[in-house]
Amino acid sequence: MKRLPASLIFASGALLLAIGCQTYSSKTPEVIDFQEHIRPILENRCLECHNPVNAADNANLNLESRESALTTGDHAPVILPGNGRQSVLYRVLAVENTHPLFMPPSPDRLWEYQLGLVRKWIDQGAPWPAGSPGKLVRPQDWETPE
Ligand code: HEC
Repeated sequence: MKRLPASLIFASGALLLAIGCQTYSSKTPEVIDFQEHIRPILENRCLECHNPVNAADNANLNLESRESALTTGDHAPVILPGNGRQSVLYRVLAVENTHPLFMPPSPDRLWEYQLGLVRKWIDQGAPWPAGSPGKLVRPQDWETPE
């Protein structure tokens, strides 16, 4: 089990202060729809690494379903339904991109709008369809059109 680097824990205090003052952007929809707003972010930007096949190399976090997202990860649970700001899954997206746990691990951070979607989705209880409709597919397995 890996521990969160102390810097994330210290940073999170400052982060919480900074983020605590923010309200959602006026563009953030009233109700977040998993399939429309969250699925594309997770599938396009996270599933490449956080899937059942590759999770062992990536903090053991498997984001393919709600059940796996709520129970896997070295710091499970990384989603605290009802509390976006405190959720590790949100914090690693919102932290400075120089931080070792910054996600996704590329210079290409999510837009503020997407961060708002993720935070509000978790605040709204992280609804996620059960079974096959909610099962995410890693990009490596996407079918290419003939
Ligand atoms: C290129 C591979 C890759 C991608 C893409 C990626 N991650 Fe990660 N992720 C990792 C690795 C590697 C770690 C472990 C980092 C460490 O411990 O230093 C990690 C750790 C995490 C953790 C901490 C998990 C824990 O329990 O410790 C979370 C949460 C997370 N990632 C969320 C995401 C999200 C959300 C996305 C998409 C926006 C994403 N990651 C995209 C590789 C990736």
